Amino acid sequence: MTLRTRRRFLAGAGAGLGVAAAGGFVPTRFAIGQKAKLKIGLMLPYTGTYAALGHNITDAMKMRLAEAGNKLGGREYDIVQLDDESAPPKGKDNAARLLVREKCDMLIGTVHSGVVLAMAQVAKEEDKFLVIPNAGAVDLTRKGCTPKLFRTSFSNWQPAFPCGDVALKDGAKTAVLMTWNYPAGHDSLQGFKDSFTKGGGKILKEILIDFPNVEFQAGLTEIASLKPDCVYVFFAGAGALKFMKDYEAAGLKAKISLYGPGFLTDGVYREAGSAASGIKTTLHYADDLDNPMNRKFRADFKKQTNRDCDVYAVQGYDTGTFLVQGLQAVQGDLGADKALVKAWEASKIDSPRGMFTLSKSHDPVQDIYLRQVWGGEEKYLGVAHKALADPGTGCTMA
Ligand code: PHB
Repeated sequence: MTLRTRRRFLAGAGAGLGVAAAGGFVPTRFAIGQKAKLKIGLMLPYTGTYAALGHNITDAMKMRLAEAGNKLGGREYDIVQLDDESAPPKGKDNAARLLVREKCDMLIGTVHSGVVLAMAQVAKEEDKFLVIPNAGAVDLTRKGCTPKLFRTSFSNWQPAFPCGDVALKDGAKTAVLMTWNYPAGHDSLQGFKDSFTKGGGKILKEILIDFPNVEFQAGLTEIASLKPDCVYVFFAGAGALKFMKDYEAAGLKAKISLYGPGFLTDGVYREAGSAASGIKTTLHYADDLDNPMNRKFRADFKKQTNRDCDVYAVQGYDTGTFLVQGLQAVQGDLGADKALVKAWEASKIDSPRGMFTLSKSHDPVQDIYLRQVWGGEEKYLGVAHKALADPGTGCTMA
């Protein structure tokens, strides 16, 4: 335990976990035999604006692990689950609580980029694997990449970049951008700007509000007075739902096309009703992707949870596959870290989103689809960018 982590651990030692699957010390060193259970720390939001995302990731991941007989490389496991509340200031304490106090062998999480940056620091200090099932902070596939950090989701640049070209093709020449003021928002806006300005588009203004504030009115008034050809936003979860509704209520929907990465509509377009209708987004998933795995997964997820599948459920499911395949390759031995890194780097993940591989910086190389909400459904319109990798070159895996 490093001194810094020890201090953090002591500071947080009084607090409880949402769910503790096992108490006390569990010996996990593979050397003592296959019988030792793996202990997996799962950090996700189960409250707040991203709560639904955390639940879908968790349930779908557990579904996939159950399909594999609830064993990883022949070993049983416990999952220690913690609500991170999408609160960056608590990120380090929470991660240390799982790795140090609970002695988890590895971490999985989270949704919020600010929280995952804190988790990554603790995982690195403790020399433990971190698998990210959502948060797309681009830093982690660029300068902040590390050998034991893997992402099964996306970098926030990826679903944003093709969206600029979509807006240009639709005839937009000017755009106003709006997002929450945190790394995910900045990364997403940068992705859109990279393609939109390269194709001759002009950004009139970037409007930032604090996370998880949903008082959008001042921004909407500014958009109305700037009169851009289009608006691009990064919002997700309950905040995205509120934004779409407010955009329509402000009378902007009929006048100015709204674009975003698919997080704007995924999981919330049904509830948004007319406010979502017609919105085009780009994402590494679409409900009606025509592959057997997608059809089966959507049906199974609905049956088991009574909720509709979305991109977050898919990422949870794929995280399950990633764990199953990697630990199979090392027969459950997390201590065989070099072999596990190699196996995970060579991953081919058969996913409801379509097959994907990992880049040298441990981030998915994947197709980005164009979708549009229409008639109460989110329709696949085509591939917006084939096999897109985050363009980062700063990763040296030191
Ligand atoms: C992020 O913080 O990176 C993030 C959060 C929610 C999303 C996507 C990305 O839907």
